[in-house]
Amino acid sequence: MDDGPAEATAVAPPPRYTVVTLFPDLIRSYVAEGVVGRAVKRGLAVVDTVDPRDHTTDRYRSVDDVPFGGGAGMVMKPGPVARAIESAGPAARRVLVTPSGRLFSQADAVAFSRLDSLVLVCGRYEGIDQRVCDTLIDDEISIGDYVLSGGELAALVVIDATLRLLPGVLGNAESAQHESFSDGLLEHPHYTRPATWRDLPVPPVLLSGHHARIEAWRRQASLRRTARVRPDLLASAALTDAERQDLLDGTSSHEETD
Ligand SMILES: C[S@@+](CC[C@H](N)C(=O)[O-])C[C@H]1O[C@@H](n2cnc3c(N)ncnc32)[C@H](O)[C@@H]1O
Repeated sequence: MDDGPAEATAVAPPPRYTVVTLFPDLIRSYVAEGVVGRAVKRGLAVVDTVDPRDHTTDRYRSVDDVPFGGGAGMVMKPGPVARAIESAGPAARRVLVTPSGRLFSQADAVAFSRLDSLVLVCGRYEGIDQRVCDTLIDDEISIGDYVLSGGELAALVVIDATLRLLPGVLGNAESAQHESFSDGLLEHPHYTRPATWRDLPVPPVLLSGHHARIEAWRRQASLRRTARVRPDLLASAALTDAERQDLLDGTSSHEETD
């Protein structure tokens, strides 16, 4: 029987990250450099921007107006930003970056890295008319308990943390697996040559060539650092009974480099 012409293998398009912003150059300059820049150049992801100002209808191209009810500052008008979001087409998730959102985490970056498209909406002024948030936004994310003057840095934080998890982006496939938060803990300290610098030697075990002992030292250093700096993370980290007991016994108060 004739099999007919070979079927073309469908190649999925790379994930697309669209940033809705009044300052597209801020996004473009960042995504041209470093790990993100290389990934974009290699076609592993697409990052593009939409400017609400290009979706205004008045001769002044105005994107903000005074708040109903009075008060300081201006508010982003619903029309231009809504049309900008819609011009990006359907997306797996539309995310508003805002100090009122839930805190962004490594788990979110992992979840976002599995989506084929993400629209990130950046506010300026006092923020965006709530009706846009209520009707066009799926998720609201904050990058920390402080107020920035615009959402672009937050959108870039989300893009950077997400994009570096895409297959093929990091040179060493393991390097994202052993970083801080990947196992719920902060990462162990790193050292490179020279072995002694300003009279400070690196921990001797790292020069031993004994892989099991090095791994054990790194695990312990990671636990101690987490206990000292971010004890809140330990509650949900995957620890053995012995590790939990060590932390209860106070081992965790030692410096991680001993
Ligand atoms: C000056 S801020 C608005 C702050 C807002 N009036 C408030 O008090 O929550 C302007 C924009 O910056 C962005 N932004 C500021 N801080 C942020 C944060 N911690 N995380 C994410 N986005 C933030 C948001 O897009 C926000 O709409």
